Amino acid sequence: MTEPQAPSTARMIDYWLGGTNHHPVDVAAAQAFEGAYGPCADIFRSLRAFSGRAARQIAADGVDQFLVFGAGIPAQGNVHETVPGAHVLYTDFDPEIVAAGRELVAGLPNVGYAPGDAADPRGIDPGALDRALPQWRTRPVGLVFLGLAAFLDDPTLARALDQMYDLVPEGSLLAFDFDAMELTGYPEALAMMGPGFHMREPADFGALLGRWQVTADGIVPVAQWRPDGPAEQVPDAFWGGLAVK
Ligand SMILES: C[S@@+](CC[C@H](N)C(=O)[O-])C[C@H]1O[C@@H](n2cnc3c(N)ncnc32)[C@H](O)[C@@H]1O
Repeated sequence: MTEPQAPSTARMIDYWLGGTNHHPVDVAAAQAFEGAYGPCADIFRSLRAFSGRAARQIAADGVDQFLVFGAGIPAQGNVHETVPGAHVLYTDFDPEIVAAGRELVAGLPNVGYAPGDAADPRGIDPGALDRALPQWRTRPVGLVFLGLAAFLDDPTLARALDQMYDLVPEGSLLAFDFDAMELTGYPEALAMMGPGFHMREPADFGALLGRWQVTADGIVPVAQWRPDGPAEQVPDAFWGGLAVK
């Protein structure tokens, strides 16, 4: 791939997770952000661990096909690695990320990567869905919506989640997270995220889920969502949960 001109949050996360799918421009942005906020690796490891627990729970509920929105880099414990053998379609709206993602999943059976705007889930190519998830119209799908809510304003997010609800069969599950108010204490870091970055009060998020029913686990800091052992000691920067259609 040619050297990207601008950093990508997806590749910055890959850097924090110790991956190899990032560039100097991403490392510079990640280090500048850490200069304004503090170390991030543990926070993103905890978030990726939540993604793994949520995907495995969806699989334990009998769902073996996943549609991932704003997927970023499909590595470092992403969905097809935590639920081996599942059908997975990753989507993202950044053409650079889609190209990098396609390279990474090329040749993997049952795993695809397609362009897709999470704000318009109905716009995802049905051909790509049919190829990657042959039973998406008739059997429950695991939707993965992580690291993405901050980039959508409230009306867009509520509409997107509503469209996703209509897109998939009954019994489908949605793994979601969002940025809580952590960065309010770090104005320089917040400014780096730009004006289109939306943090949310946890108490306000449920309303945005519309018809999706949150499981009894509730909406909690991701480290506290069904932890495998003692929850990681990280700031409550990301909250999330699992919801059912
Ligand atoms: C912070 S990264 C998160 C990546 C991955 N989901 C994770 O949790 O590590 C955000 C990703 O969402 C993508 N993104 C932002 N807005 C989007 C939209 N409206 N539709 C699809 N992808 C979007 C970006 O291109 C980027 O890859």
